[in-house]
Amino acid sequence: MSEIYPVPPRVSTRSDSPIQDMAQYREAYARAQNDPEGFWLDVARRRLRWMKEPTHGLDGSYHTIDEGPFSWFGDGVLNVTESCLDRHVETRPSKTAIIWEGDEPGEVRKLSYRELHKQVCRTANALRELGLKKGERVIIYMGMVPEAAIAMLACARLGAIHSVVFGGFSAEAVRDRVRDCGAEIVITQDKGRRGGKSIPLKEVVDKALEGEQHIKHVLVYRRTGEEVPWVEGRDVWWHEAVDGAEDLCPAVPTMAEDPLFILYTSGSTGKPKGVVHTCGGYLTFTSYTHEIVFDLREHDVYACVADIGWITGHSYIVYGPLANRATTLMFESIPTYPDAGRYWDMVERHGITIFYTAPTAIRALAAQGDEHVDKYDRRTLRVLGTVGEPINPDAWRWYYEIVGDGRCNIVDTYWQTETGGVTISPLAPLTATKPGSATLPLPGIVPLLMDDSDRILRGPGEGRLCMAFPWPGQARTVWGDHPRFVATYFNHYKGYYFTGDGCRRDTDGYHWITGRVDDVLNVSGHRMGTAEFESALVAVDEVAEAGIVGFPHPIKGQGVYAYIVLQPGFAPNDALEAKLHRAVRDQIGAHARVDLFQFVPGLPKTRSGKVMRRILRKVAEGEPDKLGDISTLADPSVVEAIVSGARSLP
Ligand code: WT7
Repeated sequence: MSEIYPVPPRVSTRSDSPIQDMAQYREAYARAQNDPEGFWLDVARRRLRWMKEPTHGLDGSYHTIDEGPFSWFGDGVLNVTESCLDRHVETRPSKTAIIWEGDEPGEVRKLSYRELHKQVCRTANALRELGLKKGERVIIYMGMVPEAAIAMLACARLGAIHSVVFGGFSAEAVRDRVRDCGAEIVITQDKGRRGGKSIPLKEVVDKALEGEQHIKHVLVYRRTGEEVPWVEGRDVWWHEAVDGAEDLCPAVPTMAEDPLFILYTSGSTGKPKGVVHTCGGYLTFTSYTHEIVFDLREHDVYACVADIGWITGHSYIVYGPLANRATTLMFESIPTYPDAGRYWDMVERHGITIFYTAPTAIRALAAQGDEHVDKYDRRTLRVLGTVGEPINPDAWRWYYEIVGDGRCNIVDTYWQTETGGVTISPLAPLTATKPGSATLPLPGIVPLLMDDSDRILRGPGEGRLCMAFPWPGQARTVWGDHPRFVATYFNHYKGYYFTGDGCRRDTDGYHWITGRVDDVLNVSGHRMGTAEFESALVAVDEVAEAGIVGFPHPIKGQGVYAYIVLQPGFAPNDALEAKLHRAVRDQIGAHARVDLFQFVPGLPKTRSGKVMRRILRKVAEGEPDKLGDISTLADPSVVEAIVSGARSLP
């Protein structure tokens, strides 16, 4: 546990990071804590291009959150695309902004800042022609093509609000999001390519939009050229609308606090929430954290292999890197296509210096053997990042020793959709690391641990992770439902933001995230709600009740365990299991899948009818001897059946 990895010596090329050593980190941390407004105003003014610079920092607080969202830089005016594009076109027009690596190895496109600016302007002009106005919402349902980033930025150019939906989500899920945010325009592509397979994106959109009267247009980018169904009058080809559009499009002024995007994310209960991020604070925070965490330099080739459908893609493929004039890679494929060497093949071919992925991918690749790594030249690598779930020390060491040859910095970055950017992480190459620890909070982030009696825990210990003070990149609200925002994050501990995670703090003040303490699952770094699975399953006629919990999974981090109570007269069989799988896939998407089904006579409930999830969890985790007190159960015999029929991975 106290195994500390010394920091490899700083390489000699120049770093422009505002934090150059641990003393400066402590100084910045103290200043952000003592004078948060002054600290963040400085950062915001220095890092972004403003049409009108903000003169004040924070308005509102966690204590007054039920009266309305807090705000940062409230009187500032900007358009985020000027910070991400225009100013770089003035200084380095031919620098590569986006490297695109397609599904087939070596299928590459490069867009300079000049080219990206032009494409964003044309697309914005095309969208305006289609009727899009400031403040209106656009759903983007695409694969990993540069046009997905272009679509996001084009919306931002017009002051419109994008909501990207991960391309694995089902038609049902797309429809829910279209309705919730009231989008009238959807942007998609004919089909996607992933791991040699074709993804029917346009078809899913058509299904999602059946009967949705308020949809004006669907803009369709041609990726594969395959035939797709067409709705005359509604559907518009990207190349027809965009290619002939004007190369310049004025950036529409937005207030710092105008929403930049909505991103739906799963919680403990109900349908996914539309988390709202704003223009000024979000871009300030993603730009700042991207530079200080990764120690970004001018000639870096930066590759985050997440999908833009998740917050990681928003903050650290698109907005943070482009604000920082970085060269950012977009990867269309999967880590094992055509084989487990794909990432390192890309590192060699593109000369990647900073590489950012999820622990689940590291575990999957480590299991395939080191020869896939050794084959490729990885000497350009300098910083290796992980995000999405706790990284087990074995996977950390493999990443450090095998991928990084023991000379790269590992940054285990802890954050959430709601935090907008990284909150707890080492700073490469400054922070001494310990395998499995996200280490220390970034300036402006004040983590606190709450103990079982809801008291603030001082010193080393384990508790529930909260944050004591707002920062500019924090989500402001849930789209259309501020009370839900308050209830989800601010009602557990008055005056504090509750992350939903457990965390241990050691004697060095290092943080070790232990995982979710609520009913949120983290499967292969994908966040999913148990309630979403349960509602998909109980919608099947044969099912009376369903209880979903996570269990430890060697590759995925967490697997999905489903307890199913059938209606009287039905018995489990393969056809029924297939039907249940289909129901989950249709309601949520292809990335959601139950790993283990257990058919049970009933769920363990208290006399007041509440399901005792603790029992379900313990049995799924393979610890039926640790059920604790079950004397309050209405029918203790249910537990015997659950324990004796417990399932585990083969
Ligand atoms: C949840 C947030 C942030 C981008 C990707 C996920 C877990 C995230 C770490 C980490 C341990 C982590 C937490 C968090 N998580 N990063 N470095 N160590 N756990 O965003 O989908 O909003 O999920 O992912 O449980 O609450 P998300």
